[in-house]
Amino acid sequence: MNKITIVGAGRVGESTAQILAREELCRELMLLDICDGVPQGVALDIQESAALLRFDTRVNGDTNPAAMADSDLVIITAGIPRKPGMSRSDVLDTNLTIIDEIIDNMLRYAPNAMLLMVTNPVDVLTWHAWQRTGWPRQRVFGQSGALDTARMATFIALETGYSIKDISPLVLGGHGDAMVPMTRFTDIAGINIEHFLDSKTIEGIVERTRKGGGEILNLKKSSSAYDSPAAAIAAMVDAISHNRRRIMPCISILDGEYDLHDMAMGVPAVLDETGLIDIIELNLTEQERADFQRSADMVRADINRLSLVA
Ligand code: LAC
Repeated sequence: MNKITIVGAGRVGESTAQILAREELCRELMLLDICDGVPQGVALDIQESAALLRFDTRVNGDTNPAAMADSDLVIITAGIPRKPGMSRSDVLDTNLTIIDEIIDNMLRYAPNAMLLMVTNPVDVLTWHAWQRTGWPRQRVFGQSGALDTARMATFIALETGYSIKDISPLVLGGHGDAMVPMTRFTDIAGINIEHFLDSKTIEGIVERTRKGGGEILNLKKSSSAYDSPAAAIAAMVDAISHNRRRIMPCISILDGEYDLHDMAMGVPAVLDETGLIDIIELNLTEQERADFQRSADMVRADINRLSLVA
């Protein structure tokens, strides 16, 4: 990709910029933020690491939304993070106002870009961005499954002691405590985790995955996670930038898949240089379907609430 803009030079934005620049996933990286001096300072700081880390990515910062012009991809990380005790939905009203302004700027300055939503509550904001832009769903998607599966892989590696490189989990659903870690589709080197772990341990991993974001927030108190979210965003950008056709759980706009319409949720999808090109539908067991529906109901409740706010 030629140009990527990251909107929001907070912790997630900065960590993401570091990885994208270092891995040379685009030629030019633009950091946008409303706090004058912050995006410029963050960009310059990262740029000054280039000689040591040996990358050619040009990193710039700006407060003027016009600076996003000609972006191939815009990553939205701006918004207020939740505080301990808050759910991701609790920040919806504030973040909606912030996101609306960004989307309107995208429509004006980067009307042909792809949009990767990161701001929470990410499922409902992805859906809202898709509605407000009127863009095809291929170009509007969100990050959550890459992070949630990375967390699940971590907990499996910690329990088994095996290399995380061979651990391949799957998490479906909304990015909230009702997300659905899919143990039936989670393996280590092709061998289902039930071969290695008893059901009580697996249940513990499922619960810890569901509450993974909260665990970090409760420990740090003054900040949500940002290193692993940034790595998750970078994994999606890598798939797009290198046209890999990777299958990853992404927040996708659903149009009949999984019997859901007019909805955004985490499902396995295919990413290539043009965006989210395919959604993979799995045959779910009765229990999995019930869990998935429960997660969908929570996202739907936020979407309904958003209609009242808007
Ligand atoms: C998390 C927040 C950022 O999962 O959604 O860490």
